Amino acid sequence: MENERSEVLQSKRVATLTLDDGRSIEFPILSGTLGPDVIDIRTLSKLGVFTYDPAFFATSSCTSNITFIDGDAGLLYYRGYPIEQLAEKSDFLEVCYLLLNGELPTAEQKAGFNNSITHHTMVHDQLARFFNGFRRDAHPMAVMVGVVGALSAFYHDSLDINNPQHREISAQRLLAKVPTIAAMTHKYSVGEPFIYPKNKFGFVENFMYMMFATPAEDYVPNPVLVRALERILILHADHEQNASTSTVRLAGSSGANPFACIASGIAALWGPAHGGANEAALKMLEEIGDTSRVPEYVQGVKDKKYKLMGFGHRVYKNMDPRAAVMRQTCYEVLKELNLENDKLFALAMELEKTALNDPYFIERKLYPNVDFYSGIVLRAIGIPINMFTVIFAVARTIGWVSQWNEMIADAEHKIGRPRQLYRGAVRRDYLPMIKR
Ligand code: ACO
Repeated sequence: MENERSEVLQSKRVATLTLDDGRSIEFPILSGTLGPDVIDIRTLSKLGVFTYDPAFFATSSCTSNITFIDGDAGLLYYRGYPIEQLAEKSDFLEVCYLLLNGELPTAEQKAGFNNSITHHTMVHDQLARFFNGFRRDAHPMAVMVGVVGALSAFYHDSLDINNPQHREISAQRLLAKVPTIAAMTHKYSVGEPFIYPKNKFGFVENFMYMMFATPAEDYVPNPVLVRALERILILHADHEQNASTSTVRLAGSSGANPFACIASGIAALWGPAHGGANEAALKMLEEIGDTSRVPEYVQGVKDKKYKLMGFGHRVYKNMDPRAAVMRQTCYEVLKELNLENDKLFALAMELEKTALNDPYFIERKLYPNVDFYSGIVLRAIGIPINMFTVIFAVARTIGWVSQWNEMIADAEHKIGRPRQLYRGAVRRDYLPMIKR
C-alpha cells in the first residue's frame, strides 16, 4: 500500500488552476491501475477556496484496491476479477474472502475461512430480546438498523479498530451474524419462531434454512434456488464508493466501531434510490399490473410524474453487467419453478423492451439495473418484498467491511470532513421576541 501510494504520488503530470485574481496553483495528476486519472486538489485550500461538487459527480473520495467499475463499458471487477466469472465459477464465501483479503483463497485458506464463518453464525441469546421491542409490522430494514447496531454492545473483546486481529474477527462476526439477524427479522415479522443456524449447511443454504424452515417440518433447500440466491449475494457484494459504502467509510473515519458503521450503511442502503430499488421495482410492476398498461406507465415516466424503478444508474451508462447475469438467473429460476408464464415476469420483459427502444431512455442512457431483475428472482424464491433490501444488506456487508478495513489499515486515513458553499443569512443581531 505504502509503495503504491508513493508511486502514485511521484506523478510528474500536473493540472494548473488559475483564479480570476491571477493566483495560480499546480495539482499533481494521479493515475490508478485502471480508470480515469484524478487531479489531487488537496492543496487547494491554501488559496482559501474549495471545490463544489455536491453528490460527488466528479470527486474521488479515497484510494481503493477493492472494486473497479467502468460505467461506460459496463465493467465490474472485484480485485481484478470480472463479476461474470465470479458469478459463474465462484461462491459467495470465496468472493467474501477475495474482497476482504485481496486474493482468492487456497483450498486450505478457504476451508479455514468457511469454518470460521460457520462457527460465528449464532448470535448472543440476549440479542433475541431486542426484537420484542419492535412492532411486528415494523419494516425489516428498521429492525436491521437497530439490531445490527446493537451488536456493538456485545463484542467489547474486539473493538480496538487499530488492532488488525480485532478488525478481522469483527469482519467475520458481521459476515456470519448479519444473515442470522436478517432471518430473525423475517421470522419476527411473520410471527414464527427463530430458527437457529445449522452448521451442516453451506452459507446460503443455512440462510434459506433460517428464513424458511419451521420446527414442524423438515427443510430441504432447492439447489437451483440456492444457486440463484448465491448469485444475488455475489452480484451485490461490493460496488466501490456508492452511497452506503461512502456512509460506512465516513462513519468509520471518526473511529466508530465496525458494528455501528455497518448499521449506518444499512440505513443509507434503505432509500429507494439505492438498495430500496428492488423493492420499489417490484411494487411498481405490481402497480402496473398488466402488460396492456405499459405504454401508459412509460408515458407517465416521460412526463416526469415518476421514475422507472430498477432503471438508470449513477455510474453505469451502459448495461449493468450484474443485470445481464441476473436476467439469465431469472430465466433459470422461473423455469425450475414452472413460472415461465409468470405475469409479473412477462410484464417486466415488456417494460424492458419498451424502455430499451424508447428515445427518452436511449438518449439518457437508462438501462435496467441489477435490481430490476433481482426482485423477480427474490419473489420467486419466496422472499417477501419488504425483505428485498435486507437481502441486499446481507450481501453488501462484506463490501462495507472490506472497504472499512481498507480505510482503517491505511495509516494516513483521517476523519472525513466535507466543506460547504454557505448561502444562509449573513451576520445579524439577535432580536428580542417583541421585535420579531
Ligand atoms: N426513470 C426515468 N427517468 C430517469 C430515471 C429512471 N429510473 N433515472 C434517471 N432518469 C432521468 C432523470 O430524470 C434525468 O432526466 P433529465 O436529464 O431530463 O432531467 C436523467 O435521467 C439523469 O438522471 P439523474 O437523476 O440525474 O441521474 P443520477 O445519476 O442522479 O441518478 C439513480 C441515478 C438515482 C439510480 C436514478 O437513475 C434513479 O433514481 N433510478 C431509479 C432507482 C433505482 O433503480 N436505483 C437503483 C440504483 S442501483 C443500486 O443501488 C444497486
